[in-house]
Amino acid sequence: MKGSTRLASLGSYAFAEVDNLVASLRSQGIEPIDFGVGDPVDPTPSLVRSACKAGVDERAAAGYPSYVGASEYRDAVAAWAQRRFGLSLDPATEITSTIGAKEAVFHLPLAFVNPGEYTVSPNPYYPPYERGTLFAGGHTHFLPLDEERGYQADLSAIPDDVLARTRILWLNYPSNPTGALASKALYKEAVDLAVDHDIILVSDECYSEMYYDVVPHSALEYGYENVLVVQSLSKRSNMTNYRVGWVMGDRDAVSLFRKVKTNIDSGTPTFVQDAAIAALSDERHVSDMREGYRRKRDILCRALSDAGYPECVPEATFYIWQRVPEGLDGVEVAKRLLDPSIGIVATPGAWIAKEVDGHNPGTQYLRFALVPSIDACAQAAEKIRGADSLHP
Ligand SMILES: Cc1ncc(COP(=O)(O)O)c(C=O)c1O
Repeated sequence: MKGSTRLASLGSYAFAEVDNLVASLRSQGIEPIDFGVGDPVDPTPSLVRSACKAGVDERAAAGYPSYVGASEYRDAVAAWAQRRFGLSLDPATEITSTIGAKEAVFHLPLAFVNPGEYTVSPNPYYPPYERGTLFAGGHTHFLPLDEERGYQADLSAIPDDVLARTRILWLNYPSNPTGALASKALYKEAVDLAVDHDIILVSDECYSEMYYDVVPHSALEYGYENVLVVQSLSKRSNMTNYRVGWVMGDRDAVSLFRKVKTNIDSGTPTFVQDAAIAALSDERHVSDMREGYRRKRDILCRALSDAGYPECVPEATFYIWQRVPEGLDGVEVAKRLLDPSIGIVATPGAWIAKEVDGHNPGTQYLRFALVPSIDACAQAAEKIRGADSLHP
């Protein structure tokens, strides 16, 4: 069947490729240790599941949900943002519900980008920054995230002609995949740039609660004008299955985004918002989650370092952005890890970064998502330590 030209122009989605690798190992009777896709395997906290179940019954005849989120949900988000970042947001105008962060990222360009205009994305990056732009008829300009700069985007490297036609600047800190936090200077510079050039800074902060020692800031702490934050409970509360998040910030930008969404979906299910309110009311499960990831991070980072790989300990997120030794590249190491004698799945960095002017900033890296259990991480660590094949 003939699909649209736009659809035909897309390559495959990187993580669909990772799923294929896992399937191919399983077909050989091997159960891989899967650090590929960043989908937590721990259960959603019971207080969240209970609130969802109760919500289904309490709302037996509720009809369609609100387009913008129930007022109780937006109030809970505002209260959380106040506690967590000291923000004072008006729930009526400055917060709107989404169907997870991905939905927001994909649809935001429809509110701001005209055909031929630009969004600016970090590179490596979360693919929907580019895909959403493409579906809105726009182009993406990529800014490399280099280890030497602590993975801070270099905003001064945006060419003037691109800047003049840029409508959205995407930032994503804590960063998938690099695990870096944004410096205060970068957030400040980005907020100023957005105001000066009439750009919307969209700060994807869906990993803000997955940190180790330093607590991340929000871009909204540096200004509200022309700034939107995308948030999600997928990672904070193991709620990837629930599809719930929100966009908060500049009221005019929120209003334009709401206009797009009323044409696309009919809101986030209200019983899911009930679950989200319960999740936001509790920090205990979030600190337990952080502790679990810290143990996994330490186990795997130590093994990689013992195996002679450079130290790449992330400051935040549940990703390790591992540089591989000279003489190898991320794809080659990923292949070697897939050998049935090791059976480990990781994502080659080049698959989640874009080649620009002959350079792909992900080539020398592999991404490990710390989703397997602690025991599985310990097994993986042993395999990595014992594997001679991981060297040039
Ligand atoms: C940077 C980034 N943004 C957004 C998302 C999507 O999150 P959600 O599950 O809320 O759609 C992900 C998921 O992995 C991500 O890595």
